[in-house]
Amino acid sequence: MIEAIGLGYSYPDGTTALDGVDVRIERGERVALLGPNGAGKSTLLQVLGGLIEPDAGSLHYFGETTDADSVRDRLSVLTQNPADYLFNPTVREDLAYGPTQQDAPQRDVDRRVEAIAERLGLSSLLSKPPFRLSGGQQRRAALASALTVDPEVLLLDEPLSNVDAANRSEILDLLAELSNDGITLVTSTPETELLPHLADRVLLLDAGGSVVASGPTREILTDTELLADCNLRPPQVVRLFDGDDPIPLTVEEARRRLDGS
Ligand SMILES: Nc1ncnc2c1ncn2[C@@H]1O[C@H](COP(=O)(O)OP(=O)(O)OP(=O)(O)O)[C@@H](O)[C@H]1O
Ligand SMILES: [Mg+2]
Repeated sequence: MIEAIGLGYSYPDGTTALDGVDVRIERGERVALLGPNGAGKSTLLQVLGGLIEPDAGSLHYFGETTDADSVRDRLSVLTQNPADYLFNPTVREDLAYGPTQQDAPQRDVDRRVEAIAERLGLSSLLSKPPFRLSGGQQRRAALASALTVDPEVLLLDEPLSNVDAANRSEILDLLAELSNDGITLVTSTPETELLPHLADRVLLLDAGGSVVASGPTREILTDTELLADCNLRPPQVVRLFDGDDPIPLTVEEARRRLDGS
């Protein structure tokens, strides 16, 4: 779906955010970009999504093209700042913006907006101005606006930050459904706790903007030393069951283990 080789990017003030990053994302994969603050996750996500042009390296989309603009309708990017997506007078118009730009019939747009809003707990907020939403509501509204365009690839920068437990579950369920439908999911997070629910494979970035490891979520999350080198910790349940084989990655796995023993 996306193949990047030797990506490099420095900001105008000279900060090197990406240094020789190779990424290959296959159709239908669930991949997470994991790394400490400042590792370059957001920069990488924006480069992959065609929002920032890299200084070095090459990008190919869908095995067809190097031109991100030509695949804009097929990729949906959610950047870290919800305000980037919330600029219309009402939440409803923000959610309708993408599909309307794509010339979808009004009835389809309305249906899609209502359905996504319902799933993300936004139905009662559709007529509000987006700047009057709470932080977590803004995050959900921005995510909803990325979903209403019906993309093939979703690139989501910290989609769960600021979101309460009930809405997190709902978002995770929705992302799982999209993944089952064949949508490719790339998410970024500085936290290991929710990763097992978000991704099957993890790309680990260090503070220098390089990918230091790529592997199955289980392999990366149980490698305490590797994570510590990147100022990260395994999920609490992994630390609790350290030494077991296999180590449970989630509370649900741990509970099944305890029930069975
Ligand atoms: N607009 C900018 N101008 C200059 N430097 C920037 C800019 N945006 C980010 N950086 C720098 O680039 C590096 C990578 O930043 P990036 O936002 O990609 O990190 P991140 O992994 O997403 O971090 P976080 O977990 O805090 O979201 C950091 O050193 C950061 O200070
Ligand atoms: Mg970031």
